[in-house]
Amino acid sequence: MRFAIQRLLLLCLIACPGVLVAQSVNVYSARHYDTDLQLYENFRKQTGIKVNLIEASSDALIQRIVNEGQYSPADVLITVDAGRLYRAEEAGVFSATESAVLNARVPEHFRHPDGLWYGLSKRARVIIYNKAAGKPDTLTRYQDLAKPEFKGQVCVRSSSNIYNISLLAGLIAHDGNEAAKAWAEGVVSNLKRRPQGNDTSNIRDVALGECRFSIVNTYYLARMIADGSDIGEKVGVIFPNQEDTGTHVNISGAGVLKYAPNRENAIKFIEFLTEPDAQYLFVEGNHEYPVVEGAKLTEAVKSLGEFREDDLDASVLGENQAAAVRIFDAAGWH
Ligand SMILES: [Fe+2]
Repeated sequence: MRFAIQRLLLLCLIACPGVLVAQSVNVYSARHYDTDLQLYENFRKQTGIKVNLIEASSDALIQRIVNEGQYSPADVLITVDAGRLYRAEEAGVFSATESAVLNARVPEHFRHPDGLWYGLSKRARVIIYNKAAGKPDTLTRYQDLAKPEFKGQVCVRSSSNIYNISLLAGLIAHDGNEAAKAWAEGVVSNLKRRPQGNDTSNIRDVALGECRFSIVNTYYLARMIADGSDIGEKVGVIFPNQEDTGTHVNISGAGVLKYAPNRENAIKFIEFLTEPDAQYLFVEGNHEYPVVEGAKLTEAVKSLGEFREDDLDASVLGENQAAAVRIFDAAGWH
C-alpha cells in the first residue's frame, strides 16, 4: 500500500506538476530596484507564493504581452507613469479586478475606475532653482516658467520623455489646449539650450549654475541627497501651484493581466504591495511618495518639504497624452 502511494506520488511528480509545484505569480516589471526584489521575497515569506520576475522597459513588456497573447504566462504588469499604464490599457493587456482591499487603500484618483490598474507609489514633478541665483517671487506656478523675464534661464529634458508629456497632459486638463500650447511655446522661448539629458543631469546643471531652473521629478533630487551629495545646498525646490491646482504628481502602478494564469495570486500580490511595510520599501528604494495615506517617508524625501498635490485623476493624464505630444511638436519643444 505504502509502495503504491509512493509510486503514485512519483508518477504525479512527472505527470501533474501543477498539483505539487508551489504557488507562484509571474510579474513583468519595468521598475528596476533592489528593494523591489526584497518586496517580492517578503511576499513569498508571508504567503508562500513565489514571484517569478521578468524585467524590461515598459514598451517592450507591453509588446511582449501582446505577442504572447492568450499563452502569456504573465500575471501582473508593473510600470511607471500614468501615461504608460494608459498605453498598456490601450493595448488591451489588463483585465478588470474587484478588490475591496485595494479600493480602500488606493485613493480613487490613483486607480482605474474598473480596476484595470492601481497606483503603488507617487512622484511629484517640480521646479528646481539654483540657490545662489535666488528664488524669484514671481515663480510659483508651472505657468510662470513661460514668463519672458526668465528668458535663457530654463533647462529641461526632451519632450519625448513621458514625465514631460504627463505634466503637459495635466496642464491641458486644467487650462485647456490653447493655454497649454502657449505655455509650451513660452518655456521653449526661455530655454537656455536645446532640451537634453535626463532629470539627474539637469539637476546637476542647475547645481553648477549652468542653468537657473529646471523641471524634474523629486526622487532624483532626494536620491542625490540620500547619497550624501551637497546638491540640496545648491538646488532649491519649488512645489508649483500651491494656491490653485496643486503640484503635478504621477504614479507607478500595477494591473492584473487579461490572460493571467494565476489570477488570485496576482490580486493578492498587488494587495500586498499596498501594505504599510511594502509601501515603505517602495519609498526607501526610490525616494518616491507612498500612494497609501499615512505610510512613512525617507529623511531625504522629508527634507524636500511638504506640499499640496494635484488630485487630478491619473486616467486623465493618460487620455491627454496624444494632445500633449502634438502640442510639444507644434511648440518646437524637441
Ligand atoms: Fe524616473
